Amino acid sequence: MRILLVGPPGAGKGTQAALLAENLTIPHISTGDLFRANISDGTELGRKAQEYMREGKLVPDEITIGMAADRMAQDDAGKGFLLDGFPRNLGQAEALDALLRESGQKLDAVLNLEAPEEEVVKRIAGRRMCRKDSSHIFHAEFHRPETEGVCDICGGELYQREDDAEDTVRKRLEVYREETEPIIDHYREQGLVVTIEALGAVPEVTRRALDALPERG
Ligand code: AP5
Ligand code: ZN
Repeated sequence: MRILLVGPPGAGKGTQAALLAENLTIPHISTGDLFRANISDGTELGRKAQEYMREGKLVPDEITIGMAADRMAQDDAGKGFLLDGFPRNLGQAEALDALLRESGQKLDAVLNLEAPEEEVVKRIAGRRMCRKDSSHIFHAEFHRPETEGVCDICGGELYQREDDAEDTVRKRLEVYREETEPIIDHYREQGLVVTIEALGAVPEVTRRALDALPERG
């Protein structure tokens, strides 16, 4: 299965991607997580990406497309993947189309997670992420860890993302509407878009997504 996950910041892409990737036994590839790993490793790519991320802007395509392509070329992505947060504008969507064409691969679906703005703002405000594993995502109210500040799964420290500050979230939502939403129409023309409501409990949303995705082939 080759799936793209789209939806506004805070819709629950990272949360659902971890569960769906496990269920479908495909790797979860998140460009946001790749950038954060580069930042915490202090790489040159991380230093460049951080300038844009802390302002809620998209990291330039010259950096992002190469990084995503390198990750998709790794062995574990040969039979399928769940891409989360990439592509994020029309240029990236066209680059991905070309990449897949060259390697004789096709997408199975573009899963569009829909959530109203007031909900995503609440979700982001309370989000707590694990420093050791970015797929361990908590919420101060909706998904509380047993011990405050500590990841239930691995014991890692929980932190608030720098780009989750209110002003930056507003900017990220604007960037989503202006630059990312148009890719949904791009994929609608290819007949790939499956839209689901991202409201409700986490397992309910996972079930909805699995029911909406095409049969595994
Ligand atoms: P990225 O890391 O991709 O962030 P995002 O798209 O803004 O999405 P989020 O991670 O904020 O939210 P999410 O939808 O994953 O929600 P989550 O599951 O955490 O990108 C960050 C930045 O990196 C970008 O701004 C950009 O600068 C850069 N970047 C990344 N990719 C790029 C690209 N391709 N091109 C250029 N730049 C790029 O859930 C949110 C909260 O809600 C959590 O606390 C969770 O516990 C809670 N929650 C989840 N589901 C539910 C539920 N059903 N009910 C209640 N609470 C829930
Ligand atoms: Zn953890």
